[in-house]
Amino acid sequence: MADPLRWEESLATGFGALDEQHRALLECSNRLLACAASGPPWVDLERAFLELEVSFRAHAAEEEWMMRWLDYPRGDEHAGQHRSFLDQLDQLRASLDRDASTETIFLARCASLSAALLEHVAQEDRDLGAHAFGHALSG
Ligand SMILES: [Fe+2]
Ligand SMILES: [Fe+2]
Repeated sequence: MADPLRWEESLATGFGALDEQHRALLECSNRLLACAASGPPWVDLERAFLELEVSFRAHAAEEEWMMRWLDYPRGDEHAGQHRSFLDQLDQLRASLDRDASTETIFLARCASLSAALLEHVAQEDRDLGAHAFGHALSG
Protein backbone atom coordinates (compact mmCIF):
# COMPACT_ATOMS: atom_id res chain seq x y z
CA MET A 1 0.00 0.00 0.00
CA ALA A 2 1.17 3.53 -0.77
CA ASP A 3 2.49 5.52 2.15
CA PRO A 4 -0.12 7.78 3.74
CA LEU A 5 0.09 11.47 2.93
CA ARG A 6 1.51 13.54 5.72
CA TRP A 7 0.92 17.19 6.39
CA GLU A 8 4.14 19.21 6.58
CA GLU A 9 4.69 22.88 7.25
CA SER A 10 6.22 23.17 3.79
CA LEU A 11 2.67 22.67 2.42
CA ALA A 12 1.30 25.70 4.29
CA THR A 13 -0.27 28.42 2.16
CA GLY A 14 -0.18 31.00 4.93
CA PHE A 15 -3.96 30.96 5.25
CA GLY A 16 -5.10 28.96 8.24
CA ALA A 17 -8.54 28.07 6.89
CA LEU A 18 -7.12 26.69 3.63
CA ASP A 19 -4.41 24.80 5.47
CA GLU A 20 -6.96 23.17 7.76
CA GLN A 21 -9.00 22.11 4.72
CA HIS A 22 -5.86 20.73 3.04
CA ARG A 23 -5.01 18.77 6.17
CA ALA A 24 -8.53 17.30 6.20
CA LEU A 25 -8.32 16.44 2.48
CA LEU A 26 -5.06 14.57 3.00
CA GLU A 27 -6.74 12.60 5.78
CA CYS A 28 -9.72 11.83 3.51
CA SER A 29 -7.35 10.63 0.83
CA ASN A 30 -5.53 8.42 3.35
CA ARG A 31 -8.84 6.88 4.45
CA LEU A 32 -9.70 6.15 0.82
CA LEU A 33 -6.35 4.43 0.29
CA ALA A 34 -6.72 2.40 3.48
CA CYS A 35 -10.28 1.33 2.59
CA ALA A 36 -9.23 0.38 -0.94
CA ALA A 37 -6.34 -1.70 0.43
CA SER A 38 -8.51 -3.51 2.95
CA GLY A 39 -10.77 -4.97 0.25
CA PRO A 40 -14.48 -5.78 0.28
CA PRO A 41 -17.08 -5.22 1.54
CA TRP A 42 -16.87 -1.81 -0.06
CA VAL A 43 -19.20 0.21 2.13
CA ASP A 44 -16.33 2.04 3.84
CA LEU A 45 -14.63 2.72 0.51
CA GLU A 46 -17.86 4.12 -0.96
CA ARG A 47 -18.16 6.39 2.08
CA ALA A 48 -14.51 7.47 1.70
CA PHE A 49 -15.14 8.36 -1.98
CA LEU A 50 -18.15 10.44 -0.99
CA GLU A 51 -16.32 12.16 1.85
CA LEU A 52 -13.37 13.09 -0.38
CA GLU A 53 -15.64 14.33 -3.15
CA VAL A 54 -17.82 16.48 -0.87
CA SER A 55 -14.82 17.91 0.99
CA PHE A 56 -12.91 18.62 -2.21
CA ARG A 57 -15.90 20.30 -3.92
CA ALA A 58 -16.47 22.61 -0.95
CA HIS A 59 -12.77 23.43 -0.70
CA ALA A 60 -12.39 24.03 -4.45
CA ALA A 61 -15.41 26.37 -4.43
CA GLU A 62 -13.76 28.42 -1.69
CA GLU A 63 -10.44 28.65 -3.51
CA GLU A 64 -12.18 29.53 -6.77
CA TRP A 65 -14.13 32.30 -5.03
CA MET A 66 -10.82 33.56 -3.63
CA MET A 67 -9.21 33.51 -7.09
CA ARG A 68 -12.07 35.50 -8.62
CA TRP A 69 -11.96 38.00 -5.78
CA LEU A 70 -8.19 38.43 -6.29
CA ASP A 71 -8.50 38.40 -10.08
CA TYR A 72 -5.83 35.71 -9.89
CA PRO A 73 -4.08 35.48 -13.27
CA ARG A 74 -3.80 31.67 -13.25
CA GLY A 75 -7.32 31.10 -11.96
CA ASP A 76 -8.61 29.25 -15.04
CA GLU A 77 -5.70 26.81 -15.01
CA HIS A 78 -5.99 26.26 -11.28
CA ALA A 79 -9.76 25.69 -11.45
CA GLY A 80 -9.13 23.30 -14.36
CA GLN A 81 -6.94 21.20 -12.08
CA HIS A 82 -9.79 21.07 -9.57
CA ARG A 83 -12.15 19.77 -12.28
CA SER A 84 -9.55 17.28 -13.44
CA PHE A 85 -9.17 15.94 -9.90
CA LEU A 86 -12.95 15.48 -9.57
CA ASP A 87 -13.07 13.78 -13.00
CA GLN A 88 -10.32 11.37 -11.91
CA LEU A 89 -12.18 10.70 -8.69
CA ASP A 90 -15.37 9.90 -10.64
CA GLN A 91 -13.51 7.60 -13.03
CA LEU A 92 -11.81 5.82 -10.18
CA ARG A 93 -15.10 5.25 -8.38
CA ALA A 94 -16.67 3.96 -11.59
CA SER A 95 -13.76 1.58 -12.14
CA LEU A 96 -14.25 -0.20 -8.84
CA ASP A 97 -15.28 -3.75 -9.58
CA ARG A 98 -17.50 -4.49 -6.62
CA ASP A 99 -17.50 -8.21 -7.33
CA ALA A 100 -13.76 -8.65 -7.48
CA SER A 101 -11.17 -8.55 -4.78
CA THR A 102 -8.91 -5.50 -4.68
CA GLU A 103 -6.87 -5.26 -7.81
CA THR A 104 -3.36 -3.92 -7.96
CA ILE A 105 -4.31 -1.55 -10.75
CA PHE A 106 -7.15 -0.05 -8.72
CA LEU A 107 -4.84 0.50 -5.76
CA ALA A 108 -2.26 2.09 -8.05
CA ARG A 109 -4.93 4.48 -9.37
CA CYS A 110 -5.91 5.40 -5.82
CA ALA A 111 -2.26 6.10 -5.03
CA SER A 112 -1.96 8.19 -8.19
CA LEU A 113 -5.00 10.29 -7.26
CA SER A 114 -3.57 10.76 -3.79
CA ALA A 115 -0.23 11.88 -5.26
CA ALA A 116 -2.05 14.33 -7.57
CA LEU A 117 -3.78 15.88 -4.55
CA LEU A 118 -0.49 16.34 -2.72
CA GLU A 119 1.18 17.82 -5.80
CA HIS A 120 -1.68 20.26 -6.33
CA VAL A 121 -1.49 21.48 -2.73
CA ALA A 122 2.30 21.72 -2.82
CA GLN A 123 2.40 23.67 -6.09
CA GLU A 124 -0.80 25.36 -7.23
CA ASP A 125 -2.28 26.06 -3.81
CA ARG A 126 0.97 27.37 -2.39
CA ASP A 127 1.32 29.65 -5.44
CA LEU A 128 -2.21 30.92 -4.80
CA GLY A 129 -1.37 31.46 -1.13
CA ALA A 130 1.75 33.45 -2.01
CA HIS A 131 -0.24 35.60 -4.44
CA ALA A 132 -3.01 36.20 -1.90
CA PHE A 133 -0.48 37.02 0.81
CA GLY A 134 1.21 39.57 -1.49
CA HIS A 135 -2.20 41.03 -2.31
CA ALA A 136 -3.04 41.35 1.39
CA LEU A 137 0.26 43.11 2.09
CA SER A 138 -0.14 45.53 -0.80
CA GLY A 139 -3.80 46.19 -0.04
FE1 LIG B 1 -6.49 24.32 -5.48
FE1 LIG C 1 -6.51 23.53 -2.17
